[in-house]
Amino acid sequence: MKSMRILLTGASGQVGGELLRRLRAMPARIEVIAPTHAQLDLADLAALRAAVRHAQPDLILHPAAYTAVVKAESEPQLARRLNAEAPAVLAEEAARLGAALVHFSTDYVFDGRYDGRYTEDMPTNPLNVYGATKREGELAIAASGGAHWILRTSWVYNLAGNNFMKTAIRLAQQKESYTIVGDQLGAPTWASTIAAVCCRMLAGTDGGREKVAVTSGIYHLTAGGATSWHGYASLIARELMARGVTLKLKGLEQITPVPTSSYPTPPERPLNSRLDCSKLERSFGLTLPAWDEDALACLQQIIAHYQLDQGRLLPD
Ligand SMILES: NC(=O)c1ccc[n+]([C@@H]2O[C@H](COP(=O)([O-])OP(=O)(O)OC[C@H]3O[C@@H](n4cnc5c(N)ncnc54)[C@H](OP(=O)(O)O)[C@@H]3O)[C@@H](O)[C@H]2O)c1
Repeated sequence: MKSMRILLTGASGQVGGELLRRLRAMPARIEVIAPTHAQLDLADLAALRAAVRHAQPDLILHPAAYTAVVKAESEPQLARRLNAEAPAVLAEEAARLGAALVHFSTDYVFDGRYDGRYTEDMPTNPLNVYGATKREGELAIAASGGAHWILRTSWVYNLAGNNFMKTAIRLAQQKESYTIVGDQLGAPTWASTIAAVCCRMLAGTDGGREKVAVTSGIYHLTAGGATSWHGYASLIARELMARGVTLKLKGLEQITPVPTSSYPTPPERPLNSRLDCSKLERSFGLTLPAWDEDALACLQQIIAHYQLDQGRLLPD
């Protein structure tokens, strides 16, 4: 990357935190402006517009979002403000400045009824408020006419943040047996990989503008392969056992797969979240890592970070 000014949202989040870490390690010619939630509430659209005009960035990286999938059902207006209206403002302002916008979206734009890997051009049909508002954000960005990438990812986890990997660790520590949904398929994706791939995609660009402009569009960015929540939880438990972490879980056979229908409360979630990432790999000459290799690498980071306390890894 050459000299540029970057406006980064959501730096306290999983993906935003990893982006910030990587950007800070880059040459000093890159100026990163990363307002916290307290400094800039993205729900305040006038303040957001003013912040972009003041910052005059070459590139906007926008991982911030309303990500509480369950809560979104009871706060649809706030979810829409953050996931649809804020990206629309960013896209308008980026287009006005001639800046590039990198936005993050989700597998939840699909209904999961297709029995294969979704490509970027397949019809969307979100099942819940979160997915619908994220799709609205995508459409607003595409309509802005500015240079943009929309990177759709899935099942994100990281050392920092609340995510299913930490839930899987706590379940194994706290319960002798438990049930996990076994019929939703997707690719757990490490925030670290998302950030690394995003930076690789931007590499060599002058402020991102030209490269993003000529490659504008949606790209699927998940780890390779796929599993179920049950398969994911089982991998984590197996590794914890192998590393001698003290668990209440008696054995892997005590993690029972159950169908999504056994949790009939809203929001509905797609059964198939598998995204075809070949457009990104082909366009940028990248190979995405396998989900299980990344999951084990992140688990290793969690083990190193938290350290075992009398054999236990995470506090309850
Ligand atoms: N998590 C997943 O499993 C998943 C799956 C598919 C796609 N995605 C997409 O990937 C992107 C990154 O997700 P993530 O997991 O990294 O998200 P995350 O960890 O939940 O972080 C969300 C970020 O948005 C910020 N934010 C929320 N409301 C805000 C507001 N009103 N004003 C300013 N900042 C606000 C949060 O700041 P505070 O914490 O300070 O409020 C936080 O930094 C999102 O676009 C998400 O939709 C995520």
